Amino acid sequence: MEPHLYYGIALVIFISGIYKFLVYPAFLSPLAKIPNAHWSCSFSSVWILWMKWTKQENRQVYKHHMEKGPAVRLGPSLVSINCYDDGLKRIYLGGFPKPEFYFNGFAVYGTPNLFTIKDNITHAAHKKALSSCFSKSSVMSSQTARAATRDVLFNRVLPLIYKASTENKAIEVIELSYSCLLDTFVQWQFGRSLGSNLVEDEKERRMYLDGFLGISEYTFWQYHFPSLISVLQKVGIHLIPKSVLRAFELVENWNLEKCDQAQQLLASGQQLSSDDQPVAFEPALKGMSEIDAKPKAYPQRLPLASDMFSLNSGAFETSGNTSTYLFWELSRRPEWQTKLREELLGLNPPLKHTPGKPVEIDDITSPQDIDKLPILHAILMETLRLWPSVPGGQPRIVPRPCTLGGYHNIPPGTTVQSYASVLHRMPDVFPSPFEWKPERWLDASQEELAVMRKWFWGFGSGGRMCLGLHFAYYSMKFLFAGIYSNFTTTVHDNGDMEPSDGYLAGPIGHRLELKFHLVE
Ligand code: HEM
Ligand SMILES: *[C@@H]1O[C@H](CO)[C@@H](O)[C@H](O)[C@H]1NC(C)=O
Ligand SMILES: *[C@@H]1O[C@H](CO)[C@@H](O)[C@H](O)[C@H]1NC(C)=O
Ligand SMILES: *[C@@H]1O[C@H](CO)[C@@H](O)[C@H](O)[C@H]1NC(C)=O
Repeated sequence: MEPHLYYGIALVIFISGIYKFLVYPAFLSPLAKIPNAHWSCSFSSVWILWMKWTKQENRQVYKHHMEKGPAVRLGPSLVSINCYDDGLKRIYLGGFPKPEFYFNGFAVYGTPNLFTIKDNITHAAHKKALSSCFSKSSVMSSQTARAATRDVLFNRVLPLIYKASTENKAIEVIELSYSCLLDTFVQWQFGRSLGSNLVEDEKERRMYLDGFLGISEYTFWQYHFPSLISVLQKVGIHLIPKSVLRAFELVENWNLEKCDQAQQLLASGQQLSSDDQPVAFEPALKGMSEIDAKPKAYPQRLPLASDMFSLNSGAFETSGNTSTYLFWELSRRPEWQTKLREELLGLNPPLKHTPGKPVEIDDITSPQDIDKLPILHAILMETLRLWPSVPGGQPRIVPRPCTLGGYHNIPPGTTVQSYASVLHRMPDVFPSPFEWKPERWLDASQEELAVMRKWFWGFGSGGRMCLGLHFAYYSMKFLFAGIYSNFTTTVHDNGDMEPSDGYLAGPIGHRLELKFHLVE
């Protein structure tokens, strides 16, 4: 070939590259009409990756929506949407599939689970088996859930708080919340005979919490560069230290062992009492496979374990971070503690702690009565609003051309996402959005309340909305009703309470120590 032919080919490649990576995305793509967060977002993801790396994404996206309206372009093929009709409703109620992000960040045993599955058909099959036991009426009437609350909250946590209060000792409540919520959930999930005891067993607590949380420092690489992790690993560079991975594996093994034991228990045909059922495991197992006597050979062992892992980890961490902020807000606001306690004293029978006397199920107020308490509900809603534990973008892939945030013809394949941390801080829906004001949920008119509920997005919405929200309400409401019936709290000491800025959030300092004071 003539040399000028090579130049010709090179020129064509160069020009089509310029067109594809610069001219088209920046000027011709329908996305070009959407305001950029930064000028480089038209053709590069550097800005959004930098925001994630420096942990200011949620804050920055909020600022840009305030300035630029309901749609903001964050990258060549990434748009943040902050409105309801051609936003939340179209994307999340429309069943747009999830991207790779979820698998990268949340698959365990190398296997997808309920949380990470991309398309809504496969997802629906997994969810079908579990949706009934997670419904509000099932959770509220579950004997196993009540027995779990009795064992964990009333007979482990409250005695521990009582003891600390008589000795005038402070308690660190982030780990106490994690432990209480995980133990309660696991008793219900696998049955009480297979329950955990993080509240009292320090060894199990350290194994689970250190193993689980150790990896959260490395989510940037996990979420966005999973193949870089494995490539570098081959040449001996460990972006995630081996010790961190090993610690996480212990948690995976812990969950797998519970699945195996629950499977064996069911296969044995042993009669289980009505307050000791593997409430979540049993239907999941039935949904996926036939019960098999050989524990290591039951079909779908790892996919099932992966689903169970997504449940018990999802259960303690989100509710635990929410509970921590609730403790923090209440502890600095004695007037709300008084209001809450007055409401709680009206319960029949009231929840009370009597030192040295184990609580029976019949001593515990019904979950329906706890659920109906307006002040407790308002306090929890306001905490979920101001301190969402999933504040970050929940990405979805556009399946067909559509209009979003007022912009037409958003092309298929574009990633779109909304942020609870932005929706929850719209000043026209939630005046003084950065203030914790439970009264906004109590004093609102029916119309105002309807608008607030539409914009409240703590649990997401649509087909991929949080599966565990009723369990979350159930367990957190009991936790606070149980404690504030007999105690007031004050802050003793705390680390940095600023929430980490990312997909998930909790206090950066990871430490909140409270003093509990007995009220009779
Ligand atoms: C305060 C407590 C909780 C909050 C704020 C919360 C929040 C959320 C959010 C925002 C999502 C959607 C995430 C996304 O699509 O990016 C989600 C999904 C999910 N949550 Fe929760 N959650 C809570 C408690 C729980 C509990 C107690 C469980 C289980 C026992 C649970 C299990 C799940 C599962 C399985 C999904 C995936 C659902 C699906 O894809 O179908 N969550 N949660
Ligand atoms: C599942 O996804 C398809 C294609 O995006 C959509 O048309 C359908 O409505 C979705 N179904 C549900 C239940 O979300
Ligand atoms: C909970 O908070 C911790 C920081 O204290 C954070 O690392 C973790 O990602 C948070 N988890 C969730 C589910 O919000
Ligand atoms: C807890 O509060 C109830 C209701 O006020 C009271 O009857 C009970 O004695 C209190 N328990 C303790 C240990 O003071």
